[in-house]
Amino acid sequence: MDKESITNTEENSYDKQNNNIRPKGFNDFLGQENIKSKLKVFIESAKKRDVSLDHILFYGPPGLGKTTLAQIIANEMGSNIKATSAPIIERPGDLASILTTLGEKDILFIDEIHRLRTVVEEVLYSAMEDFFVDIKVGEGTSAKSFRVKLPHFTLIGATTRSGLLSTPLYDRFGIVERLEFYTNEDLANIVKRSSEFLKIDITNEAAVSIASRSRGTPRIVNRLLRRVFDFATVNDVLKIDEEFAGDSLEKLGIDKNGFEALDKLYLNTIIKHYNGGPVGVDTLSVSLSEQIETIEDVIEPYLIQCGFIKRTPKGRVATNKAYSYLNLSSRYDDNYSTGERGLFNF
Ligand SMILES: Nc1ncnc2c1ncn2[C@@H]1O[C@H](COP(=O)(O)OP(=O)(O)O)[C@@H](O)[C@H]1O
Ligand SMILES: [Mg+2]
Repeated sequence: MDKESITNTEENSYDKQNNNIRPKGFNDFLGQENIKSKLKVFIESAKKRDVSLDHILFYGPPGLGKTTLAQIIANEMGSNIKATSAPIIERPGDLASILTTLGEKDILFIDEIHRLRTVVEEVLYSAMEDFFVDIKVGEGTSAKSFRVKLPHFTLIGATTRSGLLSTPLYDRFGIVERLEFYTNEDLANIVKRSSEFLKIDITNEAAVSIASRSRGTPRIVNRLLRRVFDFATVNDVLKIDEEFAGDSLEKLGIDKNGFEALDKLYLNTIIKHYNGGPVGVDTLSVSLSEQIETIEDVIEPYLIQCGFIKRTPKGRVATNKAYSYLNLSSRYDDNYSTGERGLFNF
């Protein structure tokens, strides 16, 4: 594994382009007040006692600010941060060599931490708890193992699924925080902030309109702002108003709720092919030609949040709300979004 892959892997190309709009401190990180206020206390306490911050796990859907928070924490602590991603740490030795380059109070950020291989993960147990790693040299009978002491570092893990973490790993995080979808008000503030960076003139109403189509997600709000800006540039529009923003987003196939073609295809598949469900995610994966991970991490969380689908033990079920959204008449009398009654009685 080369040095480049250690430092840059958590960033996708979109984020790289937008590095300047990524918040650097808590003041620029808008929303998530609850998490922010707790983190500020933990950071101040660690600084006052001159110790490293406890290990932190952030979980929640993509694009809500997990990577950003890790960088903000490093800035606020005045610590170095090394960022990597679980899938590229192939062998225990890869992880050991990253760990042994860390300094006192440094931060190691591991993205997609639920994807660590078990043999690699086991190296983390002693590193997190007692700050040492056992390094094995050689093979078979001539194999030797020696212990290397590590500095007191902080591991920050990010995952879209905390449920996939093994118990020994999960239990070693002293701070576990779940990021929630953002309110439209927070997202509108993010649009205003980003538009200043990108030098885009936009009305408050247009910011709210883009916010309300962004599925509660800062990464999406920034992406939609850029696309609307593209339309404005091409049409020589100097100030983006609500009507222009709405028209541009309709042209991109994004409706008032922020749903795109894939969301609609997902709902239509459950309703039309599987009679509203319940249908298993593996079956949906085949029908939609999408990976299970994409369905569970990207498509479903927001549809669940909106009350359009439910995850039940037997599979996914479309609610009445989904039927009316697609202008279809529901086959149910009662409303799933408010009660469980009769879910399996048909
Ligand atoms: N609270 C926030 N305030 C402002 N911008 C944010 C906030 N959270 C995320 N962003 C922006 O959204 C993008 C995605 O955030 P990121 O931290 O990469 O999400 P995650 O790691 O959870 O997938 C970043 O480029 C950042 O600029
Ligand atoms: Mg990230």
